[in-house]
Amino acid sequence: MRPQILRSSTSDGALSRVFVISDLHTDYPENMDWVKSLSTVKYNRDALIVAGDVAETYKNFVSTMSLLKDRFEHVFYVPGNHDAWCRRESENYESSLEKLDCLRNACRRLGVTIDPAIIDCLGIIPLYSWYHESFDREDEIAAFRIPPLEMACKDYYACKWPEELSNKDESLAAFFDSMNNSKQDAIEDIQRKCSQIITFSHFVPRQELCPEKRMLFYPNLPKIIGSDCLEARIRSVHGQEGGPSACHVFGHTHFCWDAVLDGIRYVQAPLAYPREQKRRMNGGEGWLPFCVYSDGEFSDRLYPCYWSDYYSVNPREPHNTELAPWVARFYSRRLTSRMT
Ligand SMILES: [Fe+2]
Repeated sequence: MRPQILRSSTSDGALSRVFVISDLHTDYPENMDWVKSLSTVKYNRDALIVAGDVAETYKNFVSTMSLLKDRFEHVFYVPGNHDAWCRRESENYESSLEKLDCLRNACRRLGVTIDPAIIDCLGIIPLYSWYHESFDREDEIAAFRIPPLEMACKDYYACKWPEELSNKDESLAAFFDSMNNSKQDAIEDIQRKCSQIITFSHFVPRQELCPEKRMLFYPNLPKIIGSDCLEARIRSVHGQEGGPSACHVFGHTHFCWDAVLDGIRYVQAPLAYPREQKRRMNGGEGWLPFCVYSDGEFSDRLYPCYWSDYYSVNPREPHNTELAPWVARFYSRRLTSRMT
């Protein structure tokens, strides 16, 4: 496979800007309205990277991607877990893999890019991934009864996998990672030709890109968010050392994030659920989609990013299992309400 060479309609043929967004969740009408409200003029020379979780239904997925393609010159996409859900589909998909195939075909019809591509001298590479529980290496929180993964995460019943693939081991993560093998030639071509590369995935490549477990209302979250093979893939593209031209965009946890770890810049700019947008320090307007690249250069950091800003000055304490006060309050209230 060769990388697609995408042209820009600017007079000099150069790409003007690259925007990023994840977790559009347009099954929420408010989020679909947000997509509709994006200017049909402002972005028509720009590219948009959509890092997964567009919508739960095929219908909403197609409507969303079509609206985005009307607004941006180039739209890139990689699937998230919600995109693989089958529970509300009138089509009887044999498995989530079949549904993802249909989404990819829809992308091809709409002109949405799902393979590695070059625009000007920038390489953009979608990376397939899925999470595995062993990604979580931090000490367990045992102070309270935390709901099991099957209760907390709808993927366990909303996705349908062939028998040999499961969320309970590393098979799904390995399977999705192996889907990147067919793109290796295109990736190597991009490595030779491009001085700047953006990779993107839906899932999280390193546990340090999520708050510590004791800070989370669902402390088992790190078991359902990330993949070690994804980080290995990213390093195989950008090099072990990374560099100022290496950027990876991800999604899934709905935490805004912008941090450099071991030479690679990792960015998450999620739209997230309407209830989460209301709680945000930076709202949801004006800064999304986030412009990560403009006129040949990577942009300044996304701000504010509460948690990555926090970890830029506070060390992680992976062995500390004392719950943060807001988490302790949450679980003790649950305990009290059960006893009364
Ligand atoms: Fe997700």
